[in-house]
This record gives sequence, structure tokens and C-alpha cells, in this order.
Amino acid sequence: MKNFKIALIPGDGIGPEVIAEGVKVLKTIERLNSEISFSFTEFPWGCQYYLENGKMMADDGIEQLKEYDAIYLGAVGYPGVPDTISLRDLLIRIRREFDQYVNCRPVTLLNPSLTPLKDKTEKDIDFLVIRENSEGEYAGAGDWLFKGKPEEVVLQTGVFSRKGTERIIRYAYEEAKKSNRTLTSVSKANALNYSMVFWDEVFEEVGKEYPEVKTYSHLVDAASLYFVVAPERFEVVVTSNLFGDILTDIGAAITGGMGLATGANLNPEKKFPSMFEPVHGSAPDISGQGIANPIAAIWSVSQMMDFFEEEQWGEVILSTIKTILTEKNSITPDLGGTSSTEGLGNRFVELLTLQAAKKQLVVN
Ligand code: NAD
Ligand code: IPM
Ligand code: MN
Repeated sequence: MKNFKIALIPGDGIGPEVIAEGVKVLKTIERLNSEISFSFTEFPWGCQYYLENGKMMADDGIEQLKEYDAIYLGAVGYPGVPDTISLRDLLIRIRREFDQYVNCRPVTLLNPSLTPLKDKTEKDIDFLVIRENSEGEYAGAGDWLFKGKPEEVVLQTGVFSRKGTERIIRYAYEEAKKSNRTLTSVSKANALNYSMVFWDEVFEEVGKEYPEVKTYSHLVDAASLYFVVAPERFEVVVTSNLFGDILTDIGAAITGGMGLATGANLNPEKKFPSMFEPVHGSAPDISGQGIANPIAAIWSVSQMMDFFEEEQWGEVILSTIKTILTEKNSITPDLGGTSSTEGLGNRFVELLTLQAAKKQLVVN
């Protein structure tokens, strides 16, 4: 019997709405396979907690989370609390304190009807963005001088350490090597004359250890263009924290929207818990209506299962997502469907149960 301890942080806005459906999927796995069990602990941290307690998480929150195998997070941030507080004190804090330096965000088209790109199919849009997740432009270093005065100056410093840059680039080379894919580095050395020159040098240096990996290097502006006009160029992409953030929203746009994009925040050494979450935010414009698309959150469960080395479950969740995407009545309005968030989750459980049986994954 394998037991996985999962910390749930549903968070704000549509976060709790989509996490509820992901938890249903986890409970379905537990029901279908008597050798796997999950224990869940829910943490009420987020903007509401902040308004009541003046902080985004408990003082010993990081300590509390340490004992979990994984964190499953919905979304953080809501009008009424400044994003600089809500995100930096909860989401970004967890990524950094748990050294989740790898952010794996697949850009995979699961159904040809979902892309706004004409003439592009599943064969053209299928790559993985590996985003540096612990430093870079998000390091939080800077200064605010002469606030409110005419000579006001604001500095936001990117921090690119040798250790931090090498490890993310090496992770990406390993990923490309083991899956026999090309590796594209995305940077911007023509304008960022320290950080990105360094990034490019490290990409080349580490590459000497991987002669079998075919590499490309693009400037981030050109890469944004190619994401849209020629996504078939990419197989594995490695990039900095901010560029990865922006590029993966473009990735979401070409694969069906924010409701379908997932990301795994990994501490590959497993010294600390890793965190699984949709790429999207709390979507205040639709929260409380029961129409948020929970597929990104469900895909995060698939990534979690892969991380737990239960890849057969990771795969069957993904194939069930492909199936549900063909059923107009079972998907949410952002995809042109008519279902509610909960309706989608319930139908997903039915389909997953059928597919798991067909794949002989049921263990009594
Ligand atoms: P957002 O991702 O919340 O929303 C962008 C657009 O996508 C909106 O139109 C929204 O309705 C739509 N959308 C997002 N998720 C959807 C889903 N599951 N189903 C259907 N439609 C969906 O981005 P935003 O509006 O820029 O940010 C809102 C808040 O969330 C801000 O406070 C922001 O800082 C925060 N945020 C948090 C995270 C996170 O916790 N990981 C990620 C991004 C933004
Ligand atoms: C994401 C989000 C976060 C990020 C924000 C909310 C801090 O946009 O996970 O993509 O920029 O990393
Ligand atoms: Mn983002």
C-alpha cells in the first residue's frame, strides 16, 4: 500500500472551484486502486486568510508543509489584497523556500479544434517549456529610491547565479536527452547584457556534456513569434523565470486557453515537496459562477501522478482529458461547451472509471 500525503491550498477565486474537481479525480484513483491512498490536509491560506489574519499563511506555514509529498494549489491573488503581498508571500514563497527550481509546463494540443492557429494540428503543437522557477527576474531584489520625488528611481534586479542557471539548463538537457528531443534556449542577450549573456554562455558550456542533443537558441521576442506561427519548431524549451511565465501564457493561447494549461513546480531532488497547479490565476471575472474550467487543475493531478511514479495513472488522466474534450455537453463555456465546473468533474470521473477498467488499472 502506498500512501501519499497531499497538502491542499485551494486559494482564491476559482482556485477552490477547480481544486474540488481535481480532488475528485484523486479520490477516484484511490477508489479504483486499493494499493494507492491519499491523505489530504486542507490549508485555508489565501487572500481571505490575509484579510482576517494580516498574513497569507500561518507563521510556521513552510514548516507545516514540509512533511507532505506534494502540494496541490488552486490559485492565489484577489482584488482587495495587493498582488505583491499575496503572490510573493504565498505562491512565490513556496516555490523558493522549497527550492522548486524547475517549472514544467507542457504546451500540448489535445484536440485539433482547440487551437486558434489555422492549419496546425496535434503534431505541430507538442512541446515542453522548462521555466527557471527560483531566481532570475523574480529574485525580489531591487530598490525604490526617492519615493514620490521628481528624482525617483526604481531598480528591479535580475539574479542569475551559476548554480541556479546551470541546474535548470542541465535539467533541460537531461530531459531532451532522455526523450530524444531537440532543446531550444530562449534568452535576450542583445539587450540584457549581463544576465542573458551569462545564460547563453552557460547553455553552451553545459551543452558540451550533451553532444547528442540538437540545440537552438532564440531571442525571446522572436520565440514569441515562432510560438504562434511555427510551434512545430519546438520540442523542449528552457528559459528564465519571467520569459517562461509570459511564453507559457502564449502556450496556453495556442492550445485552447488558460483553462487547459498546467504546470509542475518541482524540487527534483525531492528534498522538499513539489507543487502542482494550473497556470491560470483566480479569474475574478468568472469566480463564483461555477463555470471555471477544471481541466488544467485535473491535468496537474496527472503531472502529480507522474511525479509519484504512478505514470499509468498520469497517462490515463491525460487520455481521459482528450476524450472529454470531444464531448461538447461535458465541457465548460470557455471551450464553447455548456457544462458547469462540477458537471465536467462528475463526467470526468465516469470516463476515468471506464478508461481505467479498459486499461486494467483497477486493483481490488
Ligand atoms: P487569470 O489567469 O486569473 O485570468 C485570465 C483570463 O483567463 C480571465 O479572462 C479568466 O476568466 C480566464 N481564465 C483563467 N482560468 C480559467 C479557467 N480555469 N476557466 C475559464 N477561464 C479561465 O489571470 P489574471 O486575471 O491576470 O489574474 C487574476 C489574479 O490571479 C491576479 O491576482 C493574479 O496575480 C493571480 N494569478 C495567480 C496565479 C497563480 O496562483 N498561480 C496565476 C496567474 C495569476
Ligand atoms: C504563474 C503566475 C505567477 C508567476 C504569478 C501569479 C506570480 O503568473 O504561475 O504563471 O508569474 O509565476
Ligand atoms: Mn503566469
